[in-house]
Amino acid sequence: MKILITGGAGYIGSHVAKEIIENTDHDITIIDNLSTGSIKAINTLKDIHNSLDKNSSFDFIECDLKDINTLESMIKGKNFDAVIHFAASIIVPESVKDPIKYYSNNTINTTNLIRLCVENGVNKFIFSSTASIYGEPDEMPVKETTPLNPINPYAKSKLMSETVLEDVSEAYKDFKYISLRYFNVAGADIKLRLGQRFPNATHLIKVASETALGKREKMYAFGTDYPTQDGTGVRDYIHIDDLADAHLKALDYLVKTNTSDIFNCGYGHGYSVFDVINTMKEVSGVDFKVEIAPRREGDPAIIIADNKKITEKMGWRPKYDDIRLICKTALGWEKKLSLE
Ligand SMILES: NC(=O)c1ccc[n+]([C@@H]2O[C@H](COP(=O)([O-])OP(=O)(O)OC[C@H]3O[C@@H](n4cnc5c(N)ncnc54)[C@H](O)[C@@H]3O)[C@@H](O)[C@H]2O)c1
Repeated sequence: MKILITGGAGYIGSHVAKEIIENTDHDITIIDNLSTGSIKAINTLKDIHNSLDKNSSFDFIECDLKDINTLESMIKGKNFDAVIHFAASIIVPESVKDPIKYYSNNTINTTNLIRLCVENGVNKFIFSSTASIYGEPDEMPVKETTPLNPINPYAKSKLMSETVLEDVSEAYKDFKYISLRYFNVAGADIKLRLGQRFPNATHLIKVASETALGKREKMYAFGTDYPTQDGTGVRDYIHIDDLADAHLKALDYLVKTNTSDIFNCGYGHGYSVFDVINTMKEVSGVDFKVEIAPRREGDPAIIIADNKKITEKMGWRPKYDDIRLICKTALGWEKKLSLE
């Protein structure tokens, strides 16, 4: 297959590209504007591709999704079978301050990409969605059918894209999509070749590994009065390589069933903020400073995926459901970054 990956220089896209290179013979074209992604991730992917001596091709094109002319001529010229769409802006507080950026980059650019796919016969589309579209759900674990209630422009911009996909697949019967709703993605490539690069990350495990290495003087635990075992928020952390594998399964599923669908991606159980911090302290051997801060608006007490649908329908089986391993790979990657 010929696959277009948008945002493949970023955290999740680069791990999915790696998974495709290592496990399939699909031709890959990555487009990315390198706004938060890195050319270093692309170079690592090229090295992995070259080292495997594959017949498949690997191309990178630096391009912004809003550059519709370039995008259109590329899609016309390359005969893609599928698109995996990661490119987006992803920082929730920034989306509150600058919603136009989020609706433009996430919803408008995605809609244009979908239009170009429909017009050019690219009929398989995998979309990076997010558990944040559930908002603060009443039922736990969260099912795909749990009512959606996004509470910030980032999550709303993602739900709008899901809506566009749903309506387009209804109107154009050949066009099929899978939306993967990621829970808390964390960790790094098991062999530490790739990881999360973008500075000023807000993800708890990245922040904890930066603090363990002294890149931050201290970190914060936001809210210790939630109705949870230790009072801190509980999240479903999924290792990046398991998430990457879910994309391969989604692609197979789309090819086999030719059916559009939506799947949660999580392990179905969670860890509290204190669990994560204690695990990071243990694996790093550093008793770093943690300051207690008030709850952040819109942070629910617990968010855990019901993952029955993806395990039963796609046969997805996580391999790295281990919080120590997730913290270890995040820390190992962070150490590697310090040496660059
Ligand atoms: N990281 C998470 O925990 C998480 C959770 C849920 C959903 N997601 C979704 O997963 C996807 C990937 O997230 P990530 O964590 O890898 O983020 P990231 O910032 O590392 O990756 C996004 C990539 O897209 C590129 N990009 C952004 N706008 C672009 C544009 N207009 N044109 C071309 N390239 C563009 C960036 O340069 C970057 O390489 C996003 O769609 C995000 O909404 C992420």
